[in-house]
Order: sequence, then structure tokens, then C-alpha cells
Amino acid sequence: MHTTVGIIGGGPAGLLLARLLHKAGIDSVVLESRARSYVEQRQRAGILEQATVDVLRSVGAGARMDREGLVHHGIELRFDGRAHRIDFPALTGGGSVMVYAQTEVVKDLIALQLAEGGPLLFHAQVHAVEGADTDRPTIRFAHEGREQSLTCDYVVGCDGFHGVARHAVPEVLRRTYERTYPYSWLGILADAAPAYGELIYAHSARGFALASMRSPTVSRLYLQVPNGTDPAEWPDARIWDELDARLDQPLVRGPITAKSVLPMRSSVTEPMRHGRVFLAGDAAHIVPPTGAKGLNLAAADVIVLAEAFAHLAATGSTQLLDTYSDTCLRRVWRAEHFSYFMTTTLHADPAQSTFDTRLQLSQLERITTSPHAAAELAENYVGLPLGPALRSGGHGTTARLRA
Ligand code: PHB
Repeated sequence: MHTTVGIIGGGPAGLLLARLLHKAGIDSVVLESRARSYVEQRQRAGILEQATVDVLRSVGAGARMDREGLVHHGIELRFDGRAHRIDFPALTGGGSVMVYAQTEVVKDLIALQLAEGGPLLFHAQVHAVEGADTDRPTIRFAHEGREQSLTCDYVVGCDGFHGVARHAVPEVLRRTYERTYPYSWLGILADAAPAYGELIYAHSARGFALASMRSPTVSRLYLQVPNGTDPAEWPDARIWDELDARLDQPLVRGPITAKSVLPMRSSVTEPMRHGRVFLAGDAAHIVPPTGAKGLNLAAADVIVLAEAFAHLAATGSTQLLDTYSDTCLRRVWRAEHFSYFMTTTLHADPAQSTFDTRLQLSQLERITTSPHAAAELAENYVGLPLGPALRSGGHGTTARLRA
């Protein structure tokens, strides 16, 4: 089997890339290790930046999102007995976000790919990517009980943090920058009306809480919990009581339909390319979910990559592929900082002193009293533009050095 672009991973990054390539007339094969039902049910975040909304519409995956997604024009910050709204359009010149679950994005992209795209194989277990620095990289995988090889012009690893693609970058060339956090999130889905019309991010002495939603009748709620927490330690009534205390508001309660613990991690692997193997999304970088950036960063990566492949097909030039890693990493590090900032400003580190807590409260107060400080949060939250500075290899340095 041979294809132009072999894509490892059928999550949002891999599926969106396949759609963008299909639109550009470039063929691809997507290999996903799990079952379709598994990837369609995996609970992930639910905030789409405008650029993500736009790209989903452009590949034909916007119809259900536009019907069922909820456009949000702000978030609420709660701390120290106060509530303050961050008004996105006023602070960013019209920006907003869409609440539409990643699982729904994945369902829409899978349906499209199966209806009119290239091959998408489920239960395809990739063991290795060979020949990254040759012109015929090969993916070795098992499918339907048989060992198979897919030779490619290029390979893209969209197989997440634990995937095999990252290892195609030789260890001597690969750098991973990481931070772990001394807390996790307990996340629930509940058949209950959302607490409020917008998302609430709450700082409290008891720990962080986030009230999000999936629809006017389904809430998605999170509590900061210690690392290693077993969800069984959290019977439903304890969860609701704790949410009420941290959000400083009695919530509408309803049946809890999903409950899980999510670790928090920041990680960046550089470079995002070796030879003819490229990394995108969680295969290259992880952000803690507090900034709602994970899916949006993955989408930004594959937008840049699809454009680079289209440029190669149209002109024969690999220039945009050559600048892919640098172009993406600039945006990645900005999102890493924002996600770290949101996380460390809103959570209670078990080792933190009262001095640290006062610093957090001072920072939150600053955001709620200075339009400049609020705009900094709002701009990062709604998403920085995929502008020429991010796309052209920065300030020209890379291009000049190579010319
Ligand atoms: C979610 O709705 O799942 C969600 C929203 C905002 C976040 C993280 C998760 O920052």
C-alpha cells in the first residue's frame, strides 16, 4: 500500500488534516488504533476558537456545529466572594468562542471521511515508522490480524502523547520540555441545566472549579482533586456539595452520566519534524485544560501543515514544510504560557503559602480592574490570529538564513 500522506491517529488532528488534504486534492490514509465507538465517545474539552470553527466549516464539517454549538461571548471569573465577567467582543474587537464538544467534532469528521475521503482504518496498531530521513518513510502496522506496511511520501504523527510517531525523531535530536502539576481534575457530565449562561472559572480556598456545558440541558463540571484520586472516592452528593461550595452557588443537580479523573501536564517536544515525518497536536505538545487550548492548537498545526503540503503540490517547493516546526512552535509556546498562567493562577497548590494565595488574588483583581490585563486574557482565550507573523517563519530570520 502506498499513499502521499500517511496519517497516524484518527483524533481531531489526524481527521482534520485528512479533510484539508482531500480538499487540496492530496491523498492520505488515516490509521487509528482504537475502535470507532471508542474515539467517538472519548470525553475531551469543548471550546472552539474562531479559527477552529472557520476551518471546520471550510472542510464541510460545520453544519451540526452551527446548529448545536453555543456561541459564547465571555466567561466569568469567581474569586474571593466576587464574580467578574470577561467580555470577549469588547476586549478583542469582536472575538467569541463556540462551545461544541471535541467528541462531536470527531463524529462529524469521521462521518465525512467515510462518506467521501480516503481510507480511514480503525483497529490499526502502528508499531513503527521507518525511514524518516529517506524519501519513502514507511508505517508498519497490524490490521485485521495481518502485519502491513504503508509506504508514504510523508508521514504525519497525530497519535497523541503516548503515540509512536514522536520516536521517529531520533533521541539525540529530540528535546522535551515538561511540567507536571500537583493536582488533577475530576470531570463529570450531568443531565442538569448549566449553572449560568457562560463558563465559570472559580478560584477558591478549597481548590479550583469549572462549570462548563454541552447543551442547555447537559452540564460539564470539573473539580481540582489531588493527583492519584480514585473517582470512587467521590460519590455524586459529595461532588455536588463541593461544586456548590467552590462556585459559591447552589447548582441544579441531575444524574451524573460520566465521571473521570484527568491528569494535568504541560509538555513540548521539539522539533516537530524529522525528515519526512511531522508531528501535530498532542503528539508534539500537551497543555493543561484550564486554557481550553489543546484542540485549537492541534487544529492550528494541521492548518499550517495542510497549507505546506498544498504549496508543495502547487509549486514543488518544500519551503513551508521546512518552516513548519518553527511556525507552529511559536504559537505552541504562547498557548503553553497561557495555559500555565490560567492553571497556576486559579488552582490551589497543596504546597502553596498564604503569600502565594495573595499573589493569585492580586493577579485576579488586576484582571478585573484593568481593561489591559483583561484584554490579555481575552485575546489568548479566544485565540490569537493565525497571522502572517506566525506563518511566515517569524520575523524573517529563518527565511533569510536559509536563502
Ligand atoms: C469543557 O467544556 O470541557 C472545558 C471548557 C473549558 C476548559 C476546559 C474544559 O478550560
